[in-house]
Amino acid sequence: AKPVRVALLGCGTVGTEVVRLLHEQADDLAARVGAPVELAGVAVRRPHKHHDVPAELLTTDAAGLIASDVDVVVEVIGGIEPARTLLLDALRAGRSVVTANKALLAEHGAELFEAADAAGADLYFEAAVAGAIPLLRPLRESLAGDRITRVMGIVNGTTNFILSAMDGTGASYAETLEEATQLGYAEADPTADVDGFDAAAKAAILASLAFHTRVTAADVYREGIAAVSAADVAAARELGRTVKLLAICEREADDEGEAVSVRVHPAMIPRSHPLAGVNGAFNAVFVEADAAGQLMFYGQGAGGAPTASAVLGDLVAVARNRVMGGRGPRESAYADLPVRPMGRT
Ligand code: HSE
Repeated sequence: AKPVRVALLGCGTVGTEVVRLLHEQADDLAARVGAPVELAGVAVRRPHKHHDVPAELLTTDAAGLIASDVDVVVEVIGGIEPARTLLLDALRAGRSVVTANKALLAEHGAELFEAADAAGADLYFEAAVAGAIPLLRPLRESLAGDRITRVMGIVNGTTNFILSAMDGTGASYAETLEEATQLGYAEADPTADVDGFDAAAKAAILASLAFHTRVTAADVYREGIAAVSAADVAAARELGRTVKLLAICEREADDEGEAVSVRVHPAMIPRSHPLAGVNGAFNAVFVEADAAGQLMFYGQGAGGAPTASAVLGDLVAVARNRVMGGRGPRESAYADLPVRPMGRT
């Protein structure tokens, strides 16, 4: 069969692993997709820095790569621009898009979904929330026949790594942040992690999918971990508790009707709580739905290889759709619920 040609935009921690997996698993991927999956090019800012990628694949011209003979665009640049413009162009040109870009989806998700629907193109983004953990596909597909009432969990690996280390060894926040950066968990600008912006973007995406409504990062009440001191962590320990940065998305109903509440903040949770045992760069997310009851998703939420696993899974899905002539789930924002950041007053 005709190869599925892939343009990769960005080649940092995650992109490097995507290139490696595409190469190492080429035969298995071809068998699963029903056609070879071929890397057509890799757009980066500084080609001379990327020794792991064959030189003939590297380009600085991302727009040109998208406009060339490619079927799928995988974006792991991060940030709003140029990612937004490039992905809108890709969707409008009928390319399938796979992205790990939570900030972009949390701010401009509606625009991207509209472009995808207008072009009949696929837009998959499993890697944008909770790294390797299959979470968005279950919300969009497996639970599409149920009514989700709550999504709550630890969705930032860097802050969980820092809080776990502060709790375990009494190490300071600054020391452990440095280590999280070295390990490739932290964002390019780690204030996105420690101030809760990363978790808030993920919470917005989760709430949008879970409640079929539009929630943007600006709608999310946000408190980071910068104010959490070693003394706070020690005090929590004395009380049989531990400090975790939680993202909480809830559906509510009162006299005024239905609404959603979305917030990110540190919380002291009892050590007996299942989330208390989620340490290091691991993430865990509870989902509650009317018919399904309680579900829990757990796994590595940050790092190159775990995040690349989610990207590759999406890539197989969109490539299969191209080979078989199908399409993934559509944007399903129809509920239009008001957002109450701090919950019911
Ligand atoms: N910086 C993010 C985290 C990476 O620490 O969870 C995964 O989105």
